[in-house]
Amino acid sequence: MLQINNLNLIKRGTNQILLQDFSFALNKGDKIALISEEGNGKSSLLKTIINKEAVDDYLIVTGDITTSHIVGYLPQFLENQEQSIQTYFKNYQDYEFIKYFNEFKIDIMDYNRPLNSLSGGEKIKLQIIKLLLKDPDFLLLDEPSNDLDIETLEWLESFINSFEGGILFVSHDEVLLENCANGIIHIEQLIKKTKPKHSIHKLDYKSYVLKRQELYDRNMMIASKQREDYKEKMEKYTQILQKVHHAQSTITRQDPSTGRLLKKKMRSVISTGKRFEREKEDFLEIPDQEESIIAKFEASVNVPQGKTLLDLKLDKLTIGNKVLSNDIELLIKGPTKIGIIGQNGSGKSTLLRIIKDNIISDSVGYMPQNYQETLDMNLDAVSFIHPYQDKTLIRKFLGAMKFTHQEMESPIGNLSGGQQAKILFLKMVYDKNDVLVLDEPTRNFSPLSNPEIRKALKEFNGCIISVSHDRKYLKEVCDKVLNLDKNGLVSVLK
Ligand SMILES: Nc1ncnc2c1ncn2[C@@H]1O[C@H](COP(=O)(O)OP(=O)(O)O)[C@@H](O)[C@H]1O
Ligand SMILES: [Mg+2]
Repeated sequence: MLQINNLNLIKRGTNQILLQDFSFALNKGDKIALISEEGNGKSSLLKTIINKEAVDDYLIVTGDITTSHIVGYLPQFLENQEQSIQTYFKNYQDYEFIKYFNEFKIDIMDYNRPLNSLSGGEKIKLQIIKLLLKDPDFLLLDEPSNDLDIETLEWLESFINSFEGGILFVSHDEVLLENCANGIIHIEQLIKKTKPKHSIHKLDYKSYVLKRQELYDRNMMIASKQREDYKEKMEKYTQILQKVHHAQSTITRQDPSTGRLLKKKMRSVISTGKRFEREKEDFLEIPDQEESIIAKFEASVNVPQGKTLLDLKLDKLTIGNKVLSNDIELLIKGPTKIGIIGQNGSGKSTLLRIIKDNIISDSVGYMPQNYQETLDMNLDAVSFIHPYQDKTLIRKFLGAMKFTHQEMESPIGNLSGGQQAKILFLKMVYDKNDVLVLDEPTRNFSPLSNPEIRKALKEFNGCIISVSHDRKYLKEVCDKVLNLDKNGLVSVLK
């Protein structure tokens, strides 16, 4: 068993509390998903479980962690990628790991290749193999599903499901969460990131999302009702108070008995008022949810049906002198929504950049995979979205998307990937772009924010050309899915 008792994680310097009084046990057969918005401490928690000292430079850790078994840990970022595969497995005999290479269907050919020459899928498989070589009872996996193509995602799902021990894993992929998790840990930062909250649920992901929404709706209803009733009562109360007050001020000294009566009445009115105030203290808090809300795209954005937006013919798609694909043809008319899929390294982002440069429209919004391509990392969000107009409106939008004032003013380069993605979205909304070219638009959002992003993109009236591995996004937002491989772009059934 892996047991955590009363764990507290506090950031040095700012004293922000990431986790407070967290207790949890991971058992055999558990497949627990750890979910949160970015920066709430998922990676920090996993690192702490493995080795408290690893986080010592930025966290104050108190509480107990007991592990009586072998725990394998897959970090969010693979280090030392210059080393060769042979070096990566240097503590093992060839036959030990090659057995898994065959089982996991990876064909490496040359074991002297550096790790960074492998595809995202191959890298994950290699890391998992190295963990399995220790015969672990528990696995901690930090975002293993990032940057995987759909085939490898499906492989990962079956790996998680068939592993006999317990797994605690971080993932943003909702389909993977739905298919694998039998429990959820949700870490939140409420009230503008000042109040930590965590909750543990013995539920699958779909049931959790449903339960959470129901609870939110119910609490919101009760909280609003309490406040409405209070307002009504207080209005009546004020009227009565004024009446008694008025009566008191007009009464003559010749009528002491009415005076006494009014005094008594006043006392009782005031005590009723005090009771209302006390009741108010027990009101349910207006529920706070941390998920992203993306500003709505303007309904006025419009692309006429049948208008040609792209007529692309490429004999060859190349990177450097490497030919990735041949005979690519893509004709796009009207407000279509297209999703492009393909294996890691098939050239999707390169193709998307060419597509962006060939769109026939002067209002194209572009979200690259690497945000530095378009975001000016030294500017603050407000100035980037528009240098001089409507600062108040932009601030209002950013506030609705859960930016704190400090985050609105700090250089974009200091913000998290999720926040940078929101800024790019907001710019497209603000610029009223009619064609959006998006490279993995959902990849930096938490699984609970993603439904909001999909909703906004689904309701968008213009044209979208995107690359994605997010199966929910492809299904719900895209009208058409195209697969890129060396033979070109071919439509696939959704
Ligand atoms: N090595 C580090 N040094 C300083 N601060 C860090 C470091 N790693 C993470 N943090 C901070 O700790 C908080 C939690 O981060 P992290 O655990 O990476 O969150 P998550 O994995 O949920 O995105 C964030 O505020 C982050 O900026
Ligand atoms: Mg992380």
